[in-house]
Amino acid sequence: MSIPVLTIDGPSGAGKGTVSRAVAKKLGWNYLDSGAIYRALAIAVSNQRTSLDDVIEITNIAKQMQLAFECNEELTVLLDGEDISSHLISEKTGSVASKIAALPEVRKVLLQKQRDFQQQPGLVADGRDMGTVVFLDAPYKVFLSAGAVTRAKRRYKQLIEKGIDANLTRIIQDIEERDQRDSERSVAPLKMATDAHYIDTSEKSIAAVIAEVLDFID
Ligand code: C5P
Repeated sequence: MSIPVLTIDGPSGAGKGTVSRAVAKKLGWNYLDSGAIYRALAIAVSNQRTSLDDVIEITNIAKQMQLAFECNEELTVLLDGEDISSHLISEKTGSVASKIAALPEVRKVLLQKQRDFQQQPGLVADGRDMGTVVFLDAPYKVFLSAGAVTRAKRRYKQLIEKGIDANLTRIIQDIEERDQRDSERSVAPLKMATDAHYIDTSEKSIAAVIAEVLDFID
């Protein structure tokens, strides 16, 4: 029997993480935060001081890195045995992740690592290309979005709540740059799958979006 997948794609700050985790919990399904894989690779590349132009070395690191995920209230990510969870959220990590995510060789290596998450009884997969590339045949696809400033404000709040210093103007700029890079890259650009259900989360509470996604699956 095939294992059902719900893909939740959209730009940074659209609410994908919170919504996906809550829906996965409600359904009792597994959860894939594909952005965390790109972010973990960004941390590995930065730790090794690898130049972002060195595609061969970045691809090797992607092949060799060992990742382990534990999803409770928050996501815990171990990179080669070390807990890197607190470093994942920074804008710097997000920006490096989006640069290396534009490399076709890197995306190819990470494809199987993502597909391995499709385990019984089901999977909620959150990212940019879950419904268009990684789980193209998924029976349920959702695309979440919101205006750039709304998304930046959410990201700002998230950082401040975690005690991380943040600057709203800078975040708006980072989000706009990342949106542009993610949407214009040649491989797996951020775009809505033609068969996805679109939700604009700008004026909706998290609870309302979760309810709409659960309704859609029903
Ligand atoms: O979702 P998150 O902000 O954690 O993703 C960080 C970066 O990783 C994104 O800006 C994007 O460039 C990249 N990414 C991707 N494909 C995915 C998930 C994330 O290219 N499926």
